[in-house]
Amino acid sequence: MPYTAQIEDAKKKFEAVLEEQLKRVEKMKAEKEFIDYDKLDQIIIGVVGGDGIGPAITEQAERILKFLLKDEVDAGKVAFKEITGCTIEHRAEVGKALPDDVLDELKQCHVILKGPTTTPRQGDPWPNIESANVAMRKELDLFANVRPVKVPAEGIDWTFYRENTEGGYAVGSKGVNVTDDLAIDFVVQTHEGTERIARAAFEYAKKAGKTRVTCVTKANVIKTTDGNFLSVCKEVAKDYPGIELDDWYIDIMTAKLVDPKRRTQFQVLVLPNLYGDILTDEAAEFQGGVGTAGSANIGKRYAMFEAIHGSAPRMVQEGRDKYADPCSIIRAAVMLLEHIGYVDKAKALEKALDECMYTEKKLVITGRDTGATSAEFADYVMSKLK
Ligand code: IPM
Ligand code: MG
Repeated sequence: MPYTAQIEDAKKKFEAVLEEQLKRVEKMKAEKEFIDYDKLDQIIIGVVGGDGIGPAITEQAERILKFLLKDEVDAGKVAFKEITGCTIEHRAEVGKALPDDVLDELKQCHVILKGPTTTPRQGDPWPNIESANVAMRKELDLFANVRPVKVPAEGIDWTFYRENTEGGYAVGSKGVNVTDDLAIDFVVQTHEGTERIARAAFEYAKKAGKTRVTCVTKANVIKTTDGNFLSVCKEVAKDYPGIELDDWYIDIMTAKLVDPKRRTQFQVLVLPNLYGDILTDEAAEFQGGVGTAGSANIGKRYAMFEAIHGSAPRMVQEGRDKYADPCSIIRAAVMLLEHIGYVDKAKALEKALDECMYTEKKLVITGRDTGATSAEFADYVMSKLK
């Protein structure tokens, strides 16, 4: 048999993937309940600037949070912890998506506000390490990526529940080049992993008074992993009698999002990792682009809130980082406040941001010196909160 050695080598790699994933399943089975922030003496908010324009915009969102939480910080109820080592330089230097010192610091926090981090790819000057986002989601088990998109004037009010730790991302950097001609990647789906994201979507729907959850897969072709994802969603739906579950394939869903009549019918969408990645960028475009959207990564013990755009290194090279748009990370700050129980403060910040971005628009961000700086924009938002 030709290729015996290559097949044996690939089998070993596959075996390692199986062992790792089966351990993960056991860990999920042993999972405890969600953390209760009300019961904590102090909530620690970690702030990770990231790289590129990250530090510049994250600093502005942090200023706003500190302004809104001043009394809580003074009373010791809330503390901020700055984590500076999550830069592409440091990650490249230690050859890890998430350096150990950064991970240790993250684990000392309850929630994290995170700026964009550069994701290297083949051909970049950096080693081709895994994305820091993906590593953080996996290490802290942030299984629910929640991405709201709203365009009230067009009747768009969607909340995406993207599975965040499985699919093509679970072992995305452990694919196998079996021979020079054959490469195989792995897609992972687990019963526990799907059940917890489906339950999170339905729980949100119930709490928010929504009547429909839409499951998006390609179960007609990707029969095993997507097929199971859909059937677990159907199982979970039985526990929520007032909420209808409908199922769509990712291709037609991508088309229907641009159909003005159809798209207003979607409310909560639950979907595997990669489809969620793609569809949420498309969805954010209706709202003004990825720069306008916030993203929450929720787990049972930790939660991380981030801007959904990239790190725009070119803006830094051209000295324009102080003009970068902080709206996405401020949106993430809204979600963080809401998540830790400061619902009124979250609403006030959301209203202020909407006013500054969409209705009053006294300052405009253009990304260059023709517009406001991020700091000026943050001051503008805070002026609405006084
Ligand atoms: C996102 C991003 C990340 C992802 C990248 C940076 C790895 O696109 O948060 O949507 O694919 O999840
Ligand atoms: Mg994405």
